[in-house]
Amino acid sequence: MTDTTNSFPPNDYFARVAEEWDELRRVFFTEAMRDDAIKRANLPETAVVADVGTGTGFVLQGLIHHATRLVGFDASPEMLTVARRHFAHHPHVEFHLAEGHHLPVPDHTFDAVFANMYLHHTPNPLAAIQEMTRILKPGGKLIITDLDSHDQAWMQDEMADTWLGFERDQIRAWYQTAGLTNIIIDCAAGTCDCSHQEKNIALSIFVAIGQRPH
Ligand SMILES: C[S@@+](CC[C@H](N)C(=O)[O-])C[C@H]1O[C@@H](n2cnc3c(N)ncnc32)[C@H](O)[C@@H]1O
Repeated sequence: MTDTTNSFPPNDYFARVAEEWDELRRVFFTEAMRDDAIKRANLPETAVVADVGTGTGFVLQGLIHHATRLVGFDASPEMLTVARRHFAHHPHVEFHLAEGHHLPVPDHTFDAVFANMYLHHTPNPLAAIQEMTRILKPGGKLIITDLDSHDQAWMQDEMADTWLGFERDQIRAWYQTAGLTNIIIDCAAGTCDCSHQEKNIALSIFVAIGQRPH
């Protein structure tokens, strides 16, 4: 697979926080939320699974015993350095530096594609969803967990967020435009508790599952 990040500006935020991301992300989302999304996906044991915007591999950790091959994609070399260290002893896990709008894999490769807290960083969420759908096998599932629409504008300046979450109707419309069916959008287990200086806020998280038609 080739590096597709050439046209993508380096993400200074994730370069800076890569080594501390595992600690930082505990404040924002939980293993319970992730494991609930994995359970809802109802994957076969033989699944071949991708995780886009994988970061240090949080979702793949939850999937480690649920798939025969796991592939993480991310545009940040620094996040992937940490991810590769975590999974050094797991030969069925691999990572690739890639821009999420141009994933370096053929159509119809994966039984499932996950993306946790990736979509709100993308410049074009519909294009990102369409690209993740492209690499699904017929019958494969896209599972996105991300923030519901919120008003915490400081997250754009301080956490490199592009979007202040999403309306669930918008996510449903984008899934439909991408050609996904059997769409379920629901609250992910738990909430997203964000503590920032004097601000203590709780953001809700949705899980959106859609299936590529057979
Ligand atoms: C908030 S972190 C989430 C990481 C991981 N999914 C998790 O749950 O801990 C967002 C990740 O998306 C990656 N990312 C942001 N924009 C991207 C893009 N356009 N293409 C690929 N990766 C991207 C960042 O480098 C970062 O690792």
